Amino acid sequence: MLTGGGAESAEVAKRGLSRRQLLRRAVGLSLGLVGAEAAYGALTMLYPNLAGKFGAAITLKGKDTYKGAMQKDFILDQAGIFYESGAKAYIMHLLPGDKTFFLLQGDTLNEFLDAQSWTVDGDGSYWAALYQVCVHLGCKVPYRDDCNSFKCPCHGSHYNVDGEYLDGPAPRSLDRFSMSFDKAGNVVVDTGKLNQHVERPDTGTRVLRVPGIDCSAQ
Ligand code: FES
Repeated sequence: MLTGGGAESAEVAKRGLSRRQLLRRAVGLSLGLVGAEAAYGALTMLYPNLAGKFGAAITLKGKDTYKGAMQKDFILDQAGIFYESGAKAYIMHLLPGDKTFFLLQGDTLNEFLDAQSWTVDGDGSYWAALYQVCVHLGCKVPYRDDCNSFKCPCHGSHYNVDGEYLDGPAPRSLDRFSMSFDKAGNVVVDTGKLNQHVERPDTGTRVLRVPGIDCSAQ
């Protein structure tokens, strides 16, 4: 048993060791927390919570909101074509059967519609969700009632009511999102699934008639 100065030194050494241990533990804990926070931040950046926001599936309004129309009767936000800012998309709703004239027929038509992300509803009407961005250099493309088509104000790329390329510098047709209907009958647009592979059509692959209107750049 130590007495006097020896015992005191031992006590100091013991207390010193404890302090060092405590200090190490505190530093370790802090570093652990910082690391966990950084990892959480990185994960949040990699996998942001986009539920219901642009970049994920967005539930829009009921189908009845988007009144179907024949191609020539489209009027923005009234018939056939509707803008949804949250989805950055135009919802297209074409009336079925003999009210919509397709240039392709049968299986060929169905293959094209499928490849171009069209959705056919139970009543036989046709739907698509067109991304608002011009595939030339990225301007927002307005739908023009006076042109019965989309016309980009930047360099004049021109697209039919279904986003099909008509003329101008765009390399392909408008891109389109995957869309569906939920059980309640709402339109659901998956803005995380974008089809960027709809080529410029030629006379043998065009789906809808070219609008017979001369559309000016302005
Ligand atoms: S960005 Fe639309 S035509 Fe150039």
